[in-house]
Amino acid sequence: MKYIQIKGGAPLCGEVAVQGSKNAALPVMAACLLVRGVTVLQNCPDISDVCCMCRLLQSLGAKVERCQDALRIDASHLSSCHPPQELVMRMRSSVILAGAMLGRCGEVHLHTPGGCVIGDRPIDWHIRALGQMGAEFEEDGCLVTARARRLRGGRVVLPFPSVGATENVILAAALAEGQTDICGCAMEPEIMALCAFLNGAGARTAVAGRGHIRVTGVGALRESVYRVEADRIVAGTYLIGVLAAGGSAFLKNAPVRQMASVTALAGRMGAKLSAETGGLYVERRGRLCAPGYVETGVYPGFPTDLQSPLLVALCQAEGESRLAERIFNGRLAVAEELNRMGASIRVDGCCAGMTGGSRLYGQDVTARELRGGAALVLAGICAEGITRIRGRQFIDRGYEDIVRDLRRLGADIGDKTGL
Ligand code: EPZ
Repeated sequence: MKYIQIKGGAPLCGEVAVQGSKNAALPVMAACLLVRGVTVLQNCPDISDVCCMCRLLQSLGAKVERCQDALRIDASHLSSCHPPQELVMRMRSSVILAGAMLGRCGEVHLHTPGGCVIGDRPIDWHIRALGQMGAEFEEDGCLVTARARRLRGGRVVLPFPSVGATENVILAAALAEGQTDICGCAMEPEIMALCAFLNGAGARTAVAGRGHIRVTGVGALRESVYRVEADRIVAGTYLIGVLAAGGSAFLKNAPVRQMASVTALAGRMGAKLSAETGGLYVERRGRLCAPGYVETGVYPGFPTDLQSPLLVALCQAEGESRLAERIFNGRLAVAEELNRMGASIRVDGCCAGMTGGSRLYGQDVTARELRGGAALVLAGICAEGITRIRGRQFIDRGYEDIVRDLRRLGADIGDKTGL
């Protein structure tokens, strides 16, 4: 059994390059299905979720090959509209294939991949929104079939700014008849990246107001080359690592403009930050101060994907902290493993309370999902003694090589087998 071993207790110091964004790459890869030709995606992260999406596209008939940091996706000819259940169930975000496939060929058969450890993951808003564009759905157990002779534009109102549902509507609207106004939509940087990619391929999308994106359908999209932006969550993870463990680091390529809520909070907690050409410098030498109350929210609020890593800094900070998770109802589960390391986190529903000033101690722990796993790595770096983390496969879904990256920042961390 593979595991990550960390000898903790030392600050982080050094420079690390931030990889391409998982949550920008996945919807853009789905959007390539709308192009009857070749798309080249540069700076595409080499992570297991991207590999899974490559296999999903190939299962539909697209040709996909990796050329170093780029993916070449040829969707000239598709041969299926029924991606295999085994792949769909592996990744929640496979649901965004619906909008792309409805837009490309008017039909898709998708297995609804159920909940996961970070909480319920229904797709009711996706179905309702695509239905407003003329798609018809049949459900047979966990298999959903969607068909649309011709998707029609119109006004689509989302009850909540769901990132995935917004992506699905944009993908369905790109080649639909007429104009689609998406109201109450997500405005995350990854949504803007999808719009930028589509516009670069000849689509017509635009921000029409707060939580309002307008898409005017076009006849076809053209081949293009697109560079995936750096991953704000990976950058934020390493920033929180320096905040929690102390030290200083240069996060090369960090998308600083997308990280305002994270840098502001880190500054309140005692970090010094400066945006420099080509990245972000972060340092914490003095006290780690509790920020009081923090809650996750939709962009530009504090990202839910950094909630678990933040717990590692909050539990050690001097003073009381309270954190409320407002997006996923199961995302505080990692507190149990952190408490086994000495974190003293009190969980009550979607809120976590910490007295602060905890000292962390090395433990054998298990990662059960992506961002909780990253939090356990940060805790191991802060902890006194040896921490061994099973479940690296979850972390590899979103981090190209967290061991390589943190070793570049001076952490005593490595891959082991045994246990
Ligand atoms: C995307 O997930 C991201 N994933 C998540 O990142 C991220 O945490 C999330 O957006 C919020 O920012 C990708 O981009 C691949 P949502 P998504 O639809 O689209 C509920 C990571 O760690 N909901 O905005 O699934 C849902 O249950 C991952 O990189 C419905 O109730 O998120 C959740 O409570 C984790 N019905 C809330 O909305 C629906 O039909 C927000 O979900 C859809 C969603």
